[in-house]
Amino acid sequence: MITVRAHPSLALIKYWGKSDTDKNYAATSSLAINLKELYTETRVSFAEGEDSVWVDEMIMPKTRYAPFFESLRRILDVNAYFLVKSYSNFPKSAGLASSSSGFAALAYGAAKLVNNETPLSLISEIARLGSASAARAVFEGFTLLKKNTPHAEELFDALYWPELRVIIAIVKAEPKDTSSRLAMELSKNTSPCYASWLEGSDKIFGEALLACKNRDLDELGPLVRKSYLMMFSTMFTSSPPLLYWEPESLGLIKACEKLRAKGHSIWETMDAGPQVKMICLSHESEELMRHLEEEFPHLDFLLSEVGGGPVII
Ligand code: DP6
Repeated sequence: MITVRAHPSLALIKYWGKSDTDKNYAATSSLAINLKELYTETRVSFAEGEDSVWVDEMIMPKTRYAPFFESLRRILDVNAYFLVKSYSNFPKSAGLASSSSGFAALAYGAAKLVNNETPLSLISEIARLGSASAARAVFEGFTLLKKNTPHAEELFDALYWPELRVIIAIVKAEPKDTSSRLAMELSKNTSPCYASWLEGSDKIFGEALLACKNRDLDELGPLVRKSYLMMFSTMFTSSPPLLYWEPESLGLIKACEKLRAKGHSIWETMDAGPQVKMICLSHESEELMRHLEEEFPHLDFLLSEVGGGPVII
């Protein structure tokens, strides 16, 4: 039996859409950081006769996990079944990347249980088959998942840019109605903006890599903002439209705009859900968080550093 703790992967430059749905290859290259304050803990053990996955004491539908376990057995060349029990310290299926930490912890735990020498690149490939963002969460710190590639890679370790902080606003903790998997297929199949998203995303990905290398938030921030807004342009123009935002999401976006106008470097991003994550630097993170807590007293806020990769606990 192995218990693994993994952190969710927050994309600064987004993956949205698949180039190969069966293989779960990403159609856009993404650049992400792990969130240290948030984690999923997963206990993996061998089982008799069938796989089962429990999340917070609830058994999960077999259909979501069956292709994942089949691929896992094929890749690791093993003929075993697994019992999985998982718990996260943050709301799930709400746009906080719980599938990234969930599948990263599961792939890491199962692979280590079968063979302690399994390389991270192979674990990342297995995790990708569960959820493409999970391929990134297998590595630490700053990570990349290039489009059309089987596994992610580490760009920089968690301490490369120690001043970087993320303020997370929990706008609504309930699970979303449409999973990101279904939503990105809908965007791909129905949005007139999808082709320009693919093209534009390539360009900002390259620029964002450089900005990260330079540890320059004023260079990185506008690219982070552009990536999520371009991604949402494909959602808003899907048929039917995908409307993950809540009024407070827009309120927070505008609050960031006002703070930037006053000279603060704070750059928001969003995923398939209403939560808003704001990137800033440690010297002003506490002050910015206090300001946001005062302006949005009914919301919960968390502050996170960049996190490490999965660990056995
Ligand atoms: C908006 O990795 O959850 O968070 O591969 O279908 O499981 P599947 O999708 P998933 O999508 C994540 C989308 C995103 C952006 C990102 O994390 O890059």
